[in-house]
Amino acid sequence: GNNIIVKDLADKIGVSPSQIISKLIGLGVMVNQNQSIDSDMAVIVAEEFGVELTIQETVEESVESIEEKFSLDYEDDPKDLKARAPIVTVMGHVDHGKTSLLDAIKETSVTKSEAGGITQHIGAYAVNINNKKICFLDTPGHEAFTSMRARGAQITDIAILVVAADDGVMPQTIEAINHAKAANVPIIVAINKMDKPTANVDRIKQELVENGLVPEDWGGETITVPVSAKNREGIEDILEMILLVAEIQELKANPNRNAVGTIIEAQLDKGKGPLATVLVQKGTLQVGDMVVSGSSFGRVRAMLDDKGKRVKKAGPSTPVVILGLSEVPNAGELLYAVDDEKTARIIGEKNKEIIRAEQMRSDQKISLDDLFERI
Ligand code: GTP
Ligand code: MG
Repeated sequence: GNNIIVKDLADKIGVSPSQIISKLIGLGVMVNQNQSIDSDMAVIVAEEFGVELTIQETVEESVESIEEKFSLDYEDDPKDLKARAPIVTVMGHVDHGKTSLLDAIKETSVTKSEAGGITQHIGAYAVNINNKKICFLDTPGHEAFTSMRARGAQITDIAILVVAADDGVMPQTIEAINHAKAANVPIIVAINKMDKPTANVDRIKQELVENGLVPEDWGGETITVPVSAKNREGIEDILEMILLVAEIQELKANPNRNAVGTIIEAQLDKGKGPLATVLVQKGTLQVGDMVVSGSSFGRVRAMLDDKGKRVKKAGPSTPVVILGLSEVPNAGELLYAVDDEKTARIIGEKNKEIIRAEQMRSDQKISLDDLFERI
């Protein structure tokens, strides 16, 4: 929570520390001048001296330091870092076979259960290959989902760019290439639908070159793997390439700290309340943890893994669905575990104000634009 050191409080009020200490003793609190007391107690003591203490400043300070610690850029002590699984995002043009490729990898069938066969959300799955874990994110290729693809590129360690061998490089293929490049993420190209009679690998490679990806066998650095998601061909080759690229990256995270992750998708369930798929990136998320994500906060009541099984803990590079948030968080938002409910509430409420202020600003902008239009 928010604490203040007795000596600092004395300075603020303009009395000696011993005067504060004796007041505290009267209130049943035994501390020396170098110890800290709760901010609520500080307000009470200040009142005794006729001073109205505003704790706003210390609140802001602690929120900022917490937020810094939970930003993804925060560097944990190198000695605390442990190897973690790669997070791989499957990107590409609509219908080129992203979900089918993932299915082939999982040997299950999500495609069939999807409405209209179009991926509506980023799905997140963990798979085990030769005792090595890989976390996959599926993104939709539909043009309406640009922000999801952008987000996928930010979260990811490796991008799998799926290009249908009978169709070639298309607008969302190029967009995916740009996102991955902007995020400095290595790209592995899966040339899919090789079973089709019209499949033309050389044409695809030529188009890749035109977009700045020169295949390895053409003297460049881009790994390309011909596959058929339908016939389950080339799947082992692509997995091998993923593990190879991941090994070079030496991915690490500190599993022994409060969890930090990203909301992959979220929705309101009639019976269960807000549900959020979280990809844990640092630390370990546990049932019972107090978490915040934007203006949403709450205690994790239950956690399910990607197969719908209840779990108690989720370490780095693990996707989980969590129950217990106060409202549906925004996809793409950071989620982090904090020490207590008070902190979660303060951060949640501060974020709510920021979001509201931003909305007001953007409303204003729209009305100004309207005005100019009319002029
Ligand atoms: P969006 O999520 O909507 O962007 O599509 P997607 O890229 O996930 O494609 P999806 O896996 O849903 O596949 C689109 C269509 O291509 C489906 O009808 C698949 O059966 C078909 N398809 C996928 N992979 C292959 C393949 O290797 N060969 C053939 N012949 N068809 C494939
Ligand atoms: Mg799909």
